[in-house]
Amino acid sequence: ADERLSEEEILADPVAKIAAVGGTRHPSIPLPVELFAPQRANSMGIDLADPAILSATATAVNRPLTAAAPAPVGDVAAAIGRAHAFFPTWQATPLDTRAACLDRLADLLERDRDHLMAICVQEAFKTIPDAIGEVREAADFCRYYAAEARARLRPVELPGPTGERNTLHIDGRGVWATIAPWNFPLAIFLGQTVAALVTGNTVVAKPAPQTPRIAAAAVALAYEAGVPRDALVLVPGGPEVGAALTGDARVQGVAFTGSTATAKRIARTLLEDEARPIVPLIAETGGINAMIVDSTALPEQVVADVVTSAYRSAGQRCSALRLLLVQEDIADSLIEMLAGAMDLLTIGAPGDPTTDVGPVIDRAAYDKLMAYREEVRPRWIKTVPVPAEGLFVPPTLIRLNAIEALDREWFGPLLHVATWRAGELEKTIARVNAKGYGLTMGLHSRIARAAEVTEAAAAVGNLYINRSMIGAVVGSQPFGGEGLSGTGPKAGGPHYLYRFCAERAVSVDT
Ligand code: SER
Repeated sequence: ADERLSEEEILADPVAKIAAVGGTRHPSIPLPVELFAPQRANSMGIDLADPAILSATATAVNRPLTAAAPAPVGDVAAAIGRAHAFFPTWQATPLDTRAACLDRLADLLERDRDHLMAICVQEAFKTIPDAIGEVREAADFCRYYAAEARARLRPVELPGPTGERNTLHIDGRGVWATIAPWNFPLAIFLGQTVAALVTGNTVVAKPAPQTPRIAAAAVALAYEAGVPRDALVLVPGGPEVGAALTGDARVQGVAFTGSTATAKRIARTLLEDEARPIVPLIAETGGINAMIVDSTALPEQVVADVVTSAYRSAGQRCSALRLLLVQEDIADSLIEMLAGAMDLLTIGAPGDPTTDVGPVIDRAAYDKLMAYREEVRPRWIKTVPVPAEGLFVPPTLIRLNAIEALDREWFGPLLHVATWRAGELEKTIARVNAKGYGLTMGLHSRIARAAEVTEAAAAVGNLYINRSMIGAVVGSQPFGGEGLSGTGPKAGGPHYLYRFCAERAVSVDT
């Protein structure tokens, strides 16, 4: 393994200097690492009742945002050059060695969990439960892809006539660009990256401009776990860095998580140059995710699952519930219960363990969400007060007169509700499908037939019946959508790694 590098060193790397944005988003605020010291043991190593955690993390996150330094594009080409030159060496590194790096990385993520959680809170405004989830999911991705690689990527002998030997080899393709979102700055950043690495590709990884320090911490641990420095190169920065990356003909694949519009832009970039090889794009984008509730559903469970799905993580999950569709017979009573439950939400500093809903990611997101919320003020059914200081978007429930009236994803704690008539379940699903997105859908019903109908009709990657719609578990709920929501394959699923690979059949006449 390389010597241990700090996040600062990673960000000061001759290539990563293109990303001077790294680590300086909130320069005046020290990381509250000591707040998560392991000796304060409970099940996650955190004493949730410690008032020091409450006040110090509140200070750390409840302050005006400092603008990020602009990220010059710099020499993205140099980063790609490093990864490109190293590809043959990494490709020739035994599969078991590559997989062992991922297992070690999972161990290191767990070792440094408290520090990583602290940066997630500070840089991405994660709540404590969400910060725990970040580290957990990142480690799960590493272990899962290591195991999947060992199980699936060995050469396969195929049948043929006597005297002929047929073998299918599953190899890396070359340099992959992985482009990550700010809402899962550790889990998705690493999930995409380690999938590409374990399959024998080298990687140039671009985190979201809002969350470079988390990425730098992850890359530092990857190096410590034995990933060579030229196998994984970090290029923090904004869209211009992304464009330089995807526009380089040496990039043999792109794994992207973010907006539908950006995914389409990347697809166009990849096809622009006539001479460039046709390379795969894995895109995981957004959704207008609906939950359908019929009159047989258990109202208390529906309300709990709606609050979790729509408002937790301040609605900043691509899986989050955007459109609640209630059978009209029970709509009034259900909405009343939901409004009551919204009053119980604790809105506050992300580092405060009692917080349910923290601030949104940045000023631009805040302004956009607040402008829309204001525009639909006449249709508010319920909203809740938030602290005066900080980028808190009040969780709001908005009446919708027709399913079709919601035509875009609002990436925050804004939930729309409409009704549907008994007997029109299939028609209702068809109207949701017609939006063209296909990420998550929920159903709450005690009628087996309703579940069957929904399973058959819902054009989504992840269907959740009688439960919440967020928090897909690696290996259990492979995650990813279809249509405008993405290309597949499913992250954390058994077929994910293949998409990063080149398959070659070799036939020998013996
Ligand atoms: N995987 C996350 C979830 O399931 C969304 O990206 O909530």
